[in-house]
Parts: sequence; structure tokens; C-alpha cells
Amino acid sequence: MTCLPKNEHGCPYLLLAPMEGVGDRCFRRAMASVGGFDEAVTDFLRVSANPHIQSLARMYDFQETLPIPLAAQLMGSNEEHMANMAREIEKRGAPRIDLNCGCPSNTVTGHGAGSSLLKDPKMVYRVAKAMVQAVSIPVTIKMRSGYADTSLFKENLLAAQESGVQYITLHPRTKIEGYGPAARWELIAEAKSILRIPVVGNGDILSVQDALNMIQLTGCDALMIGRGSVINPFLFQEIKAHFAGKVYRSSWDVLLKYLETYISYMPVDVGERQKINKLKQLMGFLFKRNIALLEHRQIMLRAAHTDMNSFLDFAMPFLRSFSLSEE
Ligand SMILES: Cc1cc2nc3c(=O)[nH]c(=O)nc-3n(C[C@H](O)[C@H](O)[C@H](O)COP(=O)(O)O)c2cc1C
Repeated sequence: MTCLPKNEHGCPYLLLAPMEGVGDRCFRRAMASVGGFDEAVTDFLRVSANPHIQSLARMYDFQETLPIPLAAQLMGSNEEHMANMAREIEKRGAPRIDLNCGCPSNTVTGHGAGSSLLKDPKMVYRVAKAMVQAVSIPVTIKMRSGYADTSLFKENLLAAQESGVQYITLHPRTKIEGYGPAARWELIAEAKSILRIPVVGNGDILSVQDALNMIQLTGCDALMIGRGSVINPFLFQEIKAHFAGKVYRSSWDVLLKYLETYISYMPVDVGERQKINKLKQLMGFLFKRNIALLEHRQIMLRAAHTDMNSFLDFAMPFLRSFSLSEE
């Protein structure tokens, strides 16, 4: 059975991307309240040189996005620790475990993990293989197109496939490119021509049309969307509706539920000011969506409210126009 079953009307399987710092627990829960995607994955759990496996594993909760399945992403380079961690996460009910071969952060790559694994295809193979052998659930890899350049692109893809992972998600930028230049979708098409296993296309999908273009240009098997879903939490629903020959109409009620869910699942151990800043970060993305809101973005971000209710009284009237706005 494939891990990436197509939806009705030929709509590809849709995945919510991991986004450390932005796409955290409260974001994933809020997104689940809107729905439209078929699977989510946690932002990376860092398996350090000396990990406390059990307490790290407790950060994963398979129930978070139910009924939508939630996979766990692990980042690390020590085969034994990664295998142990994968086992522990499997015990906690994960449907799938993903190996991070993409994080560009120097604090991460300095320890040989994340995108650093791409410097040596043998490392990609070893770490992934150790995880595949440790568990009975699917293991997958999410990777960039390379570290400094794409010279090892093919070798890394083949090493990943050889390790026994079920599929690869490709974010076609190198570590050095960060998030700057446009994602090179032609590399997703190239990966499709090289590999037997499925390829999930990722990078720069901001609209239904982008999703259709990526499928057409790359032939990818499924789509993963990150920032596009923070800017427009209805994007997955819009894509599904498009395949069903319909148009998804966003509503104020759904947006309100999304924001309420986001706020209600904020970490309990952070102060009011931090919570407001967190909400501002989310709204900063929402306000990018149309010209009418963009005008007010800076005013909203600079608002000096110190309690959540007064900030909401101030910001919510702006957002009403969001749910009514056109793309
Ligand atoms: C703030 C932020 C945090 C991210 N954290 C992760 C992460 O934890 N694991 C990962 O594999 N990719 C991470 N990514 C990369 C995204 O999953 C995705 O590959 C990238 O943003 C391109 O897709 P998009 O254009 O749809 O956002 C992160 C991206 C952003 C913007």
C-alpha cells in the first residue's frame, strides 16, 4: 500500500510541511481545525549527541491533529541514537518517521545533522537505513537539493532510495541558498526521473495555480506546503475543491475557529506578551495575503497592547476582511 494515496477526483495527497518556530503545535492544531491536508509532520525533534530519548519522545503526540495523521520528524546524525529514537516514537503511535536532511541552520549543521548529511551520501544512507531497520512503520526523508551545490544531488537521492525509505520529499534549494532564490522545480522532475520511489514536491506553492503548475511541471506524486499555508490557511481546501470542480469559499467562522484554536493551544508556560508576539507572527503572515490588509501590517505588528483581549479587539476587525477577500 502506498503511503501517498490520491484523493478523490485525482487530487494528490497533500502534506502540511514542518516549520520549526512557525508551524508549531498550536499552528498544526489550528490548521487541523480548517482541514484539507492529508497528513502533517512535526517540526524537527533534535536527537543530539547525548539524547534523553524518552523525554524527547514525549514531545511527540500523535493525537495532536486527529483525525489527520501526524508524522514525526527527527534530526540527527548518530545512527544508534536515531534508531533508538525512531523506536520510541513508533511506540508512541506515529504513523511515519521522517529524517531531516534539509535544515540549513549552522547550529544544526555544525553537528553534522540536517542539510550537513547531504555532504556525504553514505551518511544519508547509514542514518536512514538505521531508522528503517529499527521500526515497522514507514520511514521517509525530507531533503534539500544539496549542501553548497547540487553536485551530489543524484548520489544523495539514490542513497536515500537504497536505504529503504518509502518516499522522498524534495525542497529544491541547497543549504547555501536558504530560502532566497526560487525553488528549482526542475530538480523535482529530475528526481522523479532518477528514482523508483515516490517524490513529494515542495517549495513556493502559494496558490491553487502554483500547485497545478508543480504537478504538471514535475510529475511529482504528492505536494507538501509550508509558508503558503501560513499565509492562507484555506489553501489545502482550495486545492481539494479545485479538483472536485468547485471553489472553496473561506468564511469568517472558519477563520475565527482557526485563531481561537491557535490561541487556546499556545504554550501555558509563556507570558501574555510572548503570546501576543506569537499571534502577531501568525497574523503577519495572514496580513501578507492581500493589498487591503498589507496596508495595515506594520500598524498591527507595532501595536503595543499588553493583554491578549485588547490586542484582539484591535486586530480582529482587520481580519474580517481577510475571510471575504479575493486571492
Ligand atoms: C520557519 C521555517 C521553519 C522550517 N522548519 C523546518 C523543519 O523543522 N523541518 C524541515 O524539514 N523543514 C523545515 N522548513 C522547510 C519547510 O518545510 C519547506 O521545505 C520550505 O519552507 C519550502 O516550502 P514552502 O515554500 O512551501 O514553505 C522550515 C521552513 C521555514 C520557513
